[in-house]
Amino acid sequence: MSRSKVTIVGAGNVGATCAHWIASRELADVVLVDVVEGLPQGKALDLLESSPVMKFDLNITGSNNYEATANSDVVIITAGVPRKKDPVTGQFPSRDELVKTNQKIVGEVTRQVAKFSPNAILIIVSNPLDAMCHVALRESGFPAERVIGQAGALDTARYKTFIAQELGVSVRDVHGIVLGGHGDTMVPLPRHTSIAGIPVRELMAEDKLQKIIDRTRNGGGEIVKLIGVSAWYAPAAGSVEMVEAILRDQKRVIPSAVLLNGEYGYKDLFIGVPAILGAKGVERVIEMQLNDEEKGMLEVSAKAVRDVVSILGY
Ligand code: NAI
Ligand code: 2OP
Repeated sequence: MSRSKVTIVGAGNVGATCAHWIASRELADVVLVDVVEGLPQGKALDLLESSPVMKFDLNITGSNNYEATANSDVVIITAGVPRKKDPVTGQFPSRDELVKTNQKIVGEVTRQVAKFSPNAILIIVSNPLDAMCHVALRESGFPAERVIGQAGALDTARYKTFIAQELGVSVRDVHGIVLGGHGDTMVPLPRHTSIAGIPVRELMAEDKLQKIIDRTRNGGGEIVKLIGVSAWYAPAAGSVEMVEAILRDQKRVIPSAVLLNGEYGYKDLFIGVPAILGAKGVERVIEMQLNDEEKGMLEVSAKAVRDVVSILGY
């Protein structure tokens, strides 16, 4: 059996950490790609040199072009620019400017990736996440089941972490899910959250639960406030959870940004919903029975995603 191959575009914080988690699980050979010369080669070499100690046996290489990525099974796209001050003007770019900049980057990257790996499954990480999934779908020409956004895996991981901390229980026993767009309108679902099957509301007071929901919604910002740039360990872990589900055909139910085709009442919109991930990519969307309050929150989130998608000008 030949080994799987994963390309990671963007050898920055999230991209390099994806390579690290993939290596630690010995999932696939890895090609790191970046526009910065030396960066993907250097990070790939450093990681490879850890293999005799960490005992993984993989090819890990870096490149500034796409020939080396040919015939990848999965491609993770993390290329983009973060929101930061212009050193000359001292101004932050507007949201629209940032969307347009990353649209251009993700568009270019996707065209290259699709040319060299026409059968790959794409996992999009670049922000604004849900909108960048629309860019990747359009520029790749791939069927929707092969274009998947990573956000729900991360947002759900943060939610579970906070619940486990608050209750003093193992994260392994916390079950739950976060739907919606990747932003502060995301929709954690306490009604569907349990600790080893025990509904969370039997174990936690409502005010504490609501604080955790708010903290989850602002989880990205919490890390930025602490370290000045956005997170990478948990985002990369969420991305690699999806890669593993696909490469090992696990049929995992992972909240993922997928193109809806009428499910939950939405069409032609990428938004986070429970998806069964396996060898074909998104194998099925699970439609949960949401109550009116939950549907209302999902609608607020869908509107926020649509507002950003409208900037793309498609
Ligand atoms: P980073 O700045 O550390 O890395 C981004 C890398 O992309 C840089 O090395 C840069 O040189 C590279 N790059 C830029 N243009 C490129 C191009 N045209 N082709 C190839 N490489 C290119 O940023 P970080 O922290 O790794 O974040 C990456 C993206 O992921 C950002 O858009 C960030 O907002 C997003 N993100 C999304 C999360 C999610 O849950 N969906 C979570 C965390 C970050
Ligand atoms: C995060 O949630 C910024 O999307 C990034 O950490």
